[in-house]
Amino acid sequence: MDHFDYRDRTLYCEDVPVPELAEKYGTPLYVYSQATLLDRLKEVQTAFTEVKPVICYSVKANGNLSIARLMGQNGAGFDVTSQGEFQRALKAGPTGSKIVFAGVGKSDAEIEFALKNDVFLFDVESEQELHAIGAVAQKLGVKAPVALRVNPDLPPKTHVKTDTSVKGVKFGLDIETIVDVAKGVVGHPGLAVVGLHMHLGSPILKAEPYRMGAEKGVALIKQFRAQGHDIKFLNMGGGFGINYRKDEAKPASAFAEVIIPAVKESGCQLILEPGRFIAGNAAILLSRVVFTKSTGGKHYIIQDAAMNDLIRPTLYGSFHRIWPVTPSTEVPVRPDVNGDPDDPNPFRAMPNCFTQDVVGPVCESGDYLAKDRPLPGVKRGDLLAVFSAGAYGMAMASNYNSRVRAAEVLVTGRTHRLIRRRETFADLVACEEDCLT
Ligand code: LLP
Repeated sequence: MDHFDYRDRTLYCEDVPVPELAEKYGTPLYVYSQATLLDRLKEVQTAFTEVKPVICYSVKANGNLSIARLMGQNGAGFDVTSQGEFQRALKAGPTGSKIVFAGVGKSDAEIEFALKNDVFLFDVESEQELHAIGAVAQKLGVKAPVALRVNPDLPPKTHVKTDTSVKGVKFGLDIETIVDVAKGVVGHPGLAVVGLHMHLGSPILKAEPYRMGAEKGVALIKQFRAQGHDIKFLNMGGGFGINYRKDEAKPASAFAEVIIPAVKESGCQLILEPGRFIAGNAAILLSRVVFTKSTGGKHYIIQDAAMNDLIRPTLYGSFHRIWPVTPSTEVPVRPDVNGDPDDPNPFRAMPNCFTQDVVGPVCESGDYLAKDRPLPGVKRGDLLAVFSAGAYGMAMASNYNSRVRAAEVLVTGRTHRLIRRRETFADLVACEEDCLT
């Protein structure tokens, strides 16, 4: 359950009426619910508690320092994919000893940085990378802790841009050759091969791929151990899906049910890297209607959030629920599970509802947050809530069209705090040299 609900025809985040936030901080605005973030982290911790997992929150989903700190304060480590994310994680928590470092293109400088900052594990994605890590570690006189990342060749189809475990993608070591790669570094003075890693894709709505992946993982771990590697960790990555459209995602317990038996069989400590599951439904992107317009038989709501604020609809064709913040009629019960199970849009049946596109001010026809969506008529100045925007929302925001990036606010109970101020024109040009004046 998330903590966004309608009361008296007004959307609330926890106990704060959302219009109050628009008034104070302006729009577009990312609004996060702290209770949702913590509930979701707790849900994963509880589901897997039997095997005492290390939950490494995936910083790429949302790396805001306050959110990362909240994760760290509540027992999470971090999954990072660049030195920048590593530094965010370090700033948010005390040490690197709970930071796992994945990514296909780690530079020598990044490897050195991670080693000097007590990295928990490198998730290694190629043979060249393995040897590069070994060389840097030897230069520093240490042994690098590594987990070999396998591409398990499984079909949890997500989206062509987020599939990570099907044959032919750039991630991980091929399942056919990983055992030979492991054999090649037995006794390497700069490497301690102590884990196996996989990340099946994102988002995944079924548990079955995890069962298949974990079983393949156990078989590989046995082979690595037979070679003499002391394997202690099984990292099953992230990817747990969330409800974007309807009640479609699995609870963490469904994933636990299929992963835990394999973890027990392996005798390893489990690592998980959830990002979207924790942050996805913990935020709305709040926007204000600038104009409405009808042309070519289509109706447009032009509001002040754009593809530079939330690129998922443009990039992946992703669906995000968009509803008025102060609808003119009562919103029935819990809107996300109400009405048509395939499209629980509570406004569909309302008399003033018609099909509209929700677009932003950016100069591209691809700049939309929703296409052909049944929505009630709105007018200039009305507020809209774009749901499920907490993961890969602000994290993927840009300054395209020289738009300043949105502000972010964290709500807890009746209080709210700015956790990222709105950018200014000075921020936009801060790195540029105006040298021809
Ligand atoms: N671990 C690794 C190695 C990953 O590559 C990812 C995500 C995660 C963990 C976290 O996955 P999550 O639990 O958040 O699903 N921008 C796309 C998603 C890209 C995911 C990239 N890797 C989107 O907006 O859907």
